[in-house]
Amino acid sequence: MTGPILAHLQSRAMEFGPLAGNAVEPERSWQHWKLARDEKDIAWLFFDRQEASVNVLSQDAISELGVVLEYLESKLPKGLVIRSAKASGFCAGANIEEFLGQSDEKEIVSKLQEAHAIVDRLDALHCPTVALIHGSCLGGGLEVALCCDYRLALPDARLGLPEIRLGLHPGLGGTSRLPQLIDPVEAMTLMLTGKTLDARRAKEKGLVDAVIEERHVVKAVESAVAGKLKGQESGFKGRLLTTGPARQIEARQMRARSAEKAPPEHYPAPEALIRLWEEHGSNAKEMRRAEIGSFARLLTTDTAQNLIRVFFLGEKLKKLARSTDRKIGQVHVIGAGAMGGDIAGWCAFQGLRVTLHDPQTETIADAVRRGAELCKRKHRSASETRDILDRLIPDPDNKGVAKADLVIEAVPEKIDIKHQVYKEIEAQMKQDALLATNTSSIPLVELASVLERPGRFIGLHFFNPVARMQLVEVVEHAQTTKAARDLANAFVGQIGRYPAPVKSAPGFLVNRVLIPYLLEAIILLDEGIAAETLDRAAEGFGMPMGPVELADHVGLDICLDVADMLKERLDQPLPELPQWLREKVEKGDLGRKSGKGFYLWKGGEPQKKKNAADPGKELLDRLLLPMLNACMTCLREGIIADEELLDGAVIFATGFAPFRGGPLHYARSRGFAKITAVLAELAGKHGERFAPDPGWNEDS
Ligand code: NAI
Repeated sequence: MTGPILAHLQSRAMEFGPLAGNAVEPERSWQHWKLARDEKDIAWLFFDRQEASVNVLSQDAISELGVVLEYLESKLPKGLVIRSAKASGFCAGANIEEFLGQSDEKEIVSKLQEAHAIVDRLDALHCPTVALIHGSCLGGGLEVALCCDYRLALPDARLGLPEIRLGLHPGLGGTSRLPQLIDPVEAMTLMLTGKTLDARRAKEKGLVDAVIEERHVVKAVESAVAGKLKGQESGFKGRLLTTGPARQIEARQMRARSAEKAPPEHYPAPEALIRLWEEHGSNAKEMRRAEIGSFARLLTTDTAQNLIRVFFLGEKLKKLARSTDRKIGQVHVIGAGAMGGDIAGWCAFQGLRVTLHDPQTETIADAVRRGAELCKRKHRSASETRDILDRLIPDPDNKGVAKADLVIEAVPEKIDIKHQVYKEIEAQMKQDALLATNTSSIPLVELASVLERPGRFIGLHFFNPVARMQLVEVVEHAQTTKAARDLANAFVGQIGRYPAPVKSAPGFLVNRVLIPYLLEAIILLDEGIAAETLDRAAEGFGMPMGPVELADHVGLDICLDVADMLKERLDQPLPELPQWLREKVEKGDLGRKSGKGFYLWKGGEPQKKKNAADPGKELLDRLLLPMLNACMTCLREGIIADEELLDGAVIFATGFAPFRGGPLHYARSRGFAKITAVLAELAGKHGERFAPDPGWNEDS
């Protein structure tokens, strides 16, 4: 190894602390791997993927690991340490781009066999091996670490096998190596849920042997290599579960739990993983062989390909949040009601300093109380909760306006009240601060009419409940500057949400596409179809909840308001709502929040009758196609820039069956011509509201 490479390694290592003493012996360097040997003959192998800030286990990186191992076998060190040269972590997993579009099972099997042969060599290396883990150690990265004799974690490490979220299970031997290392039921649960563990929890579960500070790395590695670190042993339960009948009993429970979250007809991966373990759990080698075939089968399914698509849609939305380096330091929220209070609480929870103003001091106090509840729900410790609540500052005098980088207005949906607020605060705001409204229906151009500087005015449309909904619509009007839009997107990223850039149009994107679906459900109720049947139709399609339950969740009053607003402002036909709905709302039957809507609600749950009738295909189309049609209209009208952003936004805002890849992706898979034909047929039967959008013909 040449001087510059050694310097590079040492400078990288400086980010984490000392490398193995001073005595690093430069040795070899490959494209993605760098090897150094210290004075005690311990080899330090750095994973340093070329031209990337994050290590992912691409095919070429694995193949090259094979070359490295061959070299090490020929010059066997006393011990081998694998660590990452990236600050971001050990390895974020497989290169998911390589999964996209895979349809040839045979080809996948052959590539996996090669990759397995390489990591099996690491497993079999004739010297002690240590994975030294910081940051993310996920998927394939953890599977490599599982091939080592020891795993040492730095305190910031996060470990997990999240493949299930992509409709897959681990494919590089993890399905057998993890249950061999730790309690097999815990291992299966980790893989079936895709959850990650921090270093401390990983140690508790036996996934890592020790959690160490950087300054103790060298000592810890030396004692591991000397065999002085206590190894893990599969405990009593592990031994018990080496029998097939015992695994069958556990597997039954796993099946039932998985099916609740992910119905097997839509999500085949959990069942495939459970079956692997059930059938091969006592024969590691056989299980790894079977894992290859099973992984290859899953990767070619529509479910996996669509979930991989959704992963990239999320990345595309997140990328928007990185279009500026500017960050929001302090937020000021005006209006501490249902939305403003929760927006302020969420910002504080995410690490921002927030001042919260409302003329009603008890409303502010209530918002702070909800902030404390949020911390409890999210299992924050007492000291973390104190820090979060310290950042949420009641501001009855509205003084925070002058210090904020972003002012979010969430006062009642009345243009006069909003105008009054803007007139009072605009002159006090910092020159470069952003002014945002959470309006859900007032055109931004009308709101901006009283502003001196409309360029920095933007919509940040949060959804209710704020702490659960992953998407925020970032709403532009004609005068919004690019700088304002970039900063608003960045802010949404800062608070852990996906920004969806939309144009100011009635209902923006999400309400515009959701309302026709909810209204059609109400029309069908009016025709005498049971609420349970309608919900079953949508849930059977893969929606997280049916439209009737959703309407109850949102609130029937809010549904009605938004529907009336859309009817008034759009020249597109929407169904006439039955009079009984207005009467219901007037009576105070508003849905979940009042305990009665379309359903009776008890303990936060709708009381549904069992055995809903089979809805049939036409019913599903009547619900779904108005939503797809509205998506096409939004795309055609340029309310959102492209199909991918639209699909991502609708999935992350509404939970639209993710395994279908998004509403327009689903429409494409059925064929635009077919969608148009069904819409035309429905229009003939039920009225103009089903008339196909012209956009279906333009883009097929
Ligand atoms: P809310 O009625 O719960 O809260 C409004 C708050 O503003 C009240 O606490 C009130 O005391 C306060 N307020 C009134 N005049 C004020 C003034 N001059 N200065 C400061 N505060 C003042 O209303 P909510 O539901 O929170 O709605 C707020 C905004 O968010 C509206 O524009 C609404 O359209 C929008 N929105 C509401 C959603 C929902 O589900 N409730 C969802 C998305 C957006």
